[in-house]
Amino acid sequence: MKKIQFSFSNTKVDYHLASGIAHLKEIVDPASTFIVTDENVYNAHTKRFRNWQTIVIQAGEQFKTQATVDKLLLELIERGADRKSTLVGVGGGVVTDITGYTASVYMRGIRFGFIPTTILAMVDASIGGKNGIDVGVYKNMVGVIRQPSFLLHDMVFTNTLPQHEWENGFAEIIKHACIKDPAMFSALQSHTLKQYQQKKTLLCDLIQRNAVLKSKVVQRDEFESGERRLLNFGHTLGHAIENMYELPHGHAVAIGMTYACHISEILAGFKQTKQVTDLLAKYSLPTYRAFDKARAFEILLKDKKKVKKEMNYVLLQKIGKGIVQPIPLDNLQTIINEL
Ligand code: GLY
Repeated sequence: MKKIQFSFSNTKVDYHLASGIAHLKEIVDPASTFIVTDENVYNAHTKRFRNWQTIVIQAGEQFKTQATVDKLLLELIERGADRKSTLVGVGGGVVTDITGYTASVYMRGIRFGFIPTTILAMVDASIGGKNGIDVGVYKNMVGVIRQPSFLLHDMVFTNTLPQHEWENGFAEIIKHACIKDPAMFSALQSHTLKQYQQKKTLLCDLIQRNAVLKSKVVQRDEFESGERRLLNFGHTLGHAIENMYELPHGHAVAIGMTYACHISEILAGFKQTKQVTDLLAKYSLPTYRAFDKARAFEILLKDKKKVKKEMNYVLLQKIGKGIVQPIPLDNLQTIINEL
């Protein structure tokens, strides 16, 4: 089983990218491991959980809450999990967030790893150590930055992904291309979602390229004081409207990226908005959408990227070159009202 390793500030993370869930028993001891998954993944892949102690949580962003964490903590206590136990989150971003957060607080922190099952979780949610929960409409308001011990990919899980999950994942892939990787932007322009769905090697290469891109950014700035902020491209407005309208994360981010391109035209001389919106549309992602601007701005004021009277907004100078620009809140409100 081929393994690569990334070092972060206080841990090394093993990446088993060309692997399979059958190899999990070579990484952790089933006797002291608890798998956390959701009902969708469990029902679609029940036999893969045979011989593993498995806790199944409800599926969906609305369950990324403290209430789910509390249930999981009680279940771990009842099942006798101790400081030597390992939690393995097998699922999409909600499962990886809930698992990483729970493992980080249970008995003040136990070991955990992830087997991401969605494209979004493979290229984004499982990487970087930020694991948390939503509080009402406020996304990821509470959480930790703590790295997993390992990541393991098994492409078999992509066989049962619904279409909207592909779209969610490709929104983050397009985000990576916009901020850092113009060659990947061109590759995405010349392929189609169907081709990535049908050709496993093409998909694996794309996923690994994105997993490595994100890991390198996090490695250089784990606690988000600089470069890591670029990964928030599309997420400021995106997060504000996501829970307001119960949008799939990728759709909210795609809309957020569209408007971030327009703000980039105004503040950073960006001239390639149409190329970005065309690419989003090619991957069945939304671009422009009517939204309640006053309410979105209110929610945005609670964003973690706000510092005093400014918001650190991610803009594009050109495709492949993201920048972080502090925008005074008054200006931002005017710009959003005029979008
Ligand atoms: N868990 C996602 C991140 O750390 O960015």
